[in-house]
Amino acid sequence: MNLRLDSFITKFSGFAVAVAALALCACGNQEAAQNKTSAKPAEQAVEQPAPSKSLVVFYSQTGSTKKVADAFQKARNADVFEIKTATPYPSTYDSTVAAVRVQRESKQWPVLANPKADLAKYDTVFLGYPIMFGTFAPPIYSFLDSNNLSGKVVVPFCTYGSGGRKASAAELKTLEPKANVTLAYGISNKRISAEGADSVVSAEVEAFFANLAEGKTEEMLMGGYSEQRPLTAEDSAVFAAATKDYGYLSLRPLSVSTQVVAGTNFLFTCEMKAFGGPATQTNVKIFRPLPGRGEPELIVVEK
Ligand SMILES: Cc1cc2nc3c(=O)[nH]c(=O)nc-3n(C[C@H](O)[C@H](O)[C@H](O)COP(=O)(O)O)c2cc1C
Repeated sequence: MNLRLDSFITKFSGFAVAVAALALCACGNQEAAQNKTSAKPAEQAVEQPAPSKSLVVFYSQTGSTKKVADAFQKARNADVFEIKTATPYPSTYDSTVAAVRVQRESKQWPVLANPKADLAKYDTVFLGYPIMFGTFAPPIYSFLDSNNLSGKVVVPFCTYGSGGRKASAAELKTLEPKANVTLAYGISNKRISAEGADSVVSAEVEAFFANLAEGKTEEMLMGGYSEQRPLTAEDSAVFAAATKDYGYLSLRPLSVSTQVVAGTNFLFTCEMKAFGGPATQTNVKIFRPLPGRGEPELIVVEK
């Protein structure tokens, strides 16, 4: 899966070197020609940047996903295509929920103002979306219906309230079996709206690209966690601090495992009764920074 991305990165670097070499040759030739004729002004020898081979395609209703799209664009010098609906969703959360529910139940996906992207010149598409109802937002279905991602490397990224990264990437794989859908990046809207989020996101996006280039899988990223064990008072305090704004999920931690990084990752196995619904089991990932570097924060609820 990631071989294509790797080979794309290798090819791209090779391409960039070739362009630079050609440009150098061209400069050398031009210099020789100038020596002969003294005709051409120096500006004409200026090297053109290599064309971008990747495209960031994203939909963002309220701006969180756009922040991640910007970080991907900068990290890969990618071109950008923002998906826009012909009629925007309503301005309040509750009425958007109602509108999306109708779309999902009828499978009538929204009409886009810009249905077609020119994908022909791109090997890699970074596809970004907010999570709605546990998967990508409806405008992504509209985009997939009007564009052909076959043969492309598709790198999903998302923002969410509590989670949906893995489920949305899995649905994308099912809907686009001929695309090479990679590991996905995700971040909560709370973390992306926090002070200093820009540098957090750009560091995470770089780390994500390193994982992609190394061909890391979800399973490999879970390496280094201890066995699940009963909670200590300290674990419970970490859990309570990180989940205080997520009461609507009614999370009850059952056991925990940890992974030491620059700080500690906690993976709590929990019972969840989201919005008072039936009890399900879920994993909740929480990061506790090193002492004095901030409070524990919820990274994702893996529903
Ligand atoms: C209709 C709707 C449904 C949502 N469903 C979920 C959900 O199932 N899970 C979740 O974690 N967040 C959910 N959210 C929260 C959004 O994913 C989150 O606010 C996201 O960051 C918005 O991105 P945007 O600012 O780019 O539009 C939902 C938001 C809306 C409006």
